[in-house]
Amino acid sequence: MSNAPILLTPGPLTTSARTRQAMLVDWGSWDRDFNQLTASVCEQLLAILDGAASHHCVPLQGSGTFAVEAAIGTLVPRDGKVLVLINGAYGQRLAKICKVLGRQYSTFETAEDQPTTAEDVDRLLAADPSVTHVALIHCETSTGILNPLPEIAQVIKRHGKRLIIDAMSSFGALPIDARQIPFEALIAASGKCLEGVPGMGFVFAEKTALAAAEGNAHSLAMDLHDQHQYMAKTGQWRFTPPTHVVAALHEALQQYNEEGGLPARHQRYANNCKTLLDGMAKIGLRSFLPTEIQAPIIVTFHAPTDARYQFKDFYERVKAKGFILYPGKLTQVETFRVGCIGVVGAAGMQAAVDAVAEVLREMEVLDI
Ligand SMILES: Cc1ncc(COP(=O)(O)O)c(C=O)c1O
Repeated sequence: MSNAPILLTPGPLTTSARTRQAMLVDWGSWDRDFNQLTASVCEQLLAILDGAASHHCVPLQGSGTFAVEAAIGTLVPRDGKVLVLINGAYGQRLAKICKVLGRQYSTFETAEDQPTTAEDVDRLLAADPSVTHVALIHCETSTGILNPLPEIAQVIKRHGKRLIIDAMSSFGALPIDARQIPFEALIAASGKCLEGVPGMGFVFAEKTALAAAEGNAHSLAMDLHDQHQYMAKTGQWRFTPPTHVVAALHEALQQYNEEGGLPARHQRYANNCKTLLDGMAKIGLRSFLPTEIQAPIIVTFHAPTDARYQFKDFYERVKAKGFILYPGKLTQVETFRVGCIGVVGAAGMQAAVDAVAEVLREMEVLDI
């Protein structure tokens, strides 16, 4: 395993040997020990955002999108209307979810290098009183841009509307305090900044909103109200749980706490991001976003313009040197992305920069 490449991607990402080893045990889904494991995971997740008094943590089988879809389907009533704030592919996905679920929605889109502002949201809510919910991506992973969550959340509260936050790629690394940031739902997943393996999402749902959400869901399996009721009553998951994923997340959370919790995780990722940005700048690769709006999660770089640069070739050569990069997700400009998250530190990021430099020299790409 030590020869496995380091994943510099937004997830799945590099996990520790301890986390992987935690999956070597089989658990009975009805067993008391496994139920305790689930309860402990939920309790620890709630503690990260100080949400135990106000929110329930509802875990759900599947990738992150399953949990986002379940949150919208469960919490937005069928006659509700969602204002979707978009500055990238995951914001677009929120709108698509509303469309597929048949929830009324409107969109507000800014350029991929422009955060949505609280003033935008204020104006939009004043102009359309029929909006019941606002959906926001915290860190838009398609570029790495950070949207100003605290300011936007306060405006939404002032208008008496409800906020649904997709914090998939930021939860656990960027501070979010449920006692200070009003939200109805916040969604994240096991295989991102908590450094677990992929396979389950979780939704922090405001207690009174979840209690009132009975019958909203369009789907049996994606009904978070039902999922929560069943779990609260029995301690068990409603349907077959991702047992190994839960065990891995439990172990990953233990390491998260040993590392020093959110401040330490944030600091390591911030160091990773700085090492990456400084190193790439030295070899002539420019980042797409200005640093003020760059989250320390994933960085988008402009691709070299030399015709000898082809992403696929570049990717394979960097992989052979031990690092997995990620393609760009922008339609207008040719880019590639490098993640700062997972079990990797500044030395690893510097080694990745060195590998990129060597590869571009091998490819005789001249504009760096
Ligand atoms: C902001 C954001 N939302 C949602 C998702 C969920 O995607 P998936 O269903 O592929 O886990 C991701 C995954 O990277 C993400 O970054």
